Amino acid sequence: MKPKVFVTRRIPSPGPEILEEYCEVDVFLGEQPPKKEEIRIGVRGKDALLCLLTDKIDRDIMDAALSLRVISSFSVGYDHIDVAEATRRGIYVTYTPGVLTEATADFAWTLLMTVARRIVEADRVVRTRNWKVGWGPTILLGDDVYRKTLGIVGLGRIGTAVAQRAKGFNMRTIYFDVIRAPLEKEKEFGVEYVPLEKLLKESDFISVHVPLMKETYHLFSEAQFRQMKRTAFLINTSRGAVVDEKALAKALQERLIAGAALDVFEKEPIDPDNPLLNMDNVVLAPHIASATKEARSKMSEVSAKNLIAVLKGEMPLFLVNKDVLNIRSLPQVKMI
Ligand code: DGY
Repeated sequence: MKPKVFVTRRIPSPGPEILEEYCEVDVFLGEQPPKKEEIRIGVRGKDALLCLLTDKIDRDIMDAALSLRVISSFSVGYDHIDVAEATRRGIYVTYTPGVLTEATADFAWTLLMTVARRIVEADRVVRTRNWKVGWGPTILLGDDVYRKTLGIVGLGRIGTAVAQRAKGFNMRTIYFDVIRAPLEKEKEFGVEYVPLEKLLKESDFISVHVPLMKETYHLFSEAQFRQMKRTAFLINTSRGAVVDEKALAKALQERLIAGAALDVFEKEPIDPDNPLLNMDNVVLAPHIASATKEARSKMSEVSAKNLIAVLKGEMPLFLVNKDVLNIRSLPQVKMI
């Protein structure tokens, strides 16, 4: 008998084909993410779950899926999964790092350039037939990026890829991370380690690349905005809750900082009454940093391969909870 898999949304090729070769696949067909009860019903009796970052996978879901051996997330972030609980139950948790690094770094840069050069406002002026003067010395003045100071918070894969791109702009790139990078890496990417306070004070652009954890929740709040330059911009492509959105809106209103460009929000989709929606000095995107055809196809492939590897009793490409190997060994989860 083939193992049974629940997939919480339709995903692009080649993931579905990879899963179908080995498993009986049940896909949630809604356009919206499944509700908690729908996930509970979907995982019942399943051996594996392939989920997205919109699906909160907690103890209740695991209670509904007592035969679950692997939770494979179609994402690099895994803050939506109770990993400690999964580990305790001997459930393997896998993710898709690496394959969306370049797309996400490109997008962080897209946001940075867009907010610095006021592209969204400029586009609006043209489209709304408000381009009245052919060329003007002070029309839509933005900020230089070249030779400015870029502060990177979190020098993991994506933060590093953002730093690499900054070399082409001759920037001074400073970074903060809980663990300082080896000197060779700092040299290779032209980055300088500084404490967070110094980064806040000296950066013209701050790009955030940390995972969401207890320690990074509201890492950017009023106190941090007060330390930033009044001319600085904040770029966030990590997780919404790393930034205290209320404090950000206030900081933007009071002009404590010059602007922000956000791909992620505390609540997604954003509430229609979110004050950020009415601000010109903010660029907003609907969580699409990894949304390239290439990256999403790779995420699909890796998430499916991770899942199949565990069911084959093999080491998956990317395992989140290495401790699970001591709770339930790979031969014990093997089904294929
Ligand atoms: C992830 O995979 O965690 C990203 O947020 C998707 O863009």
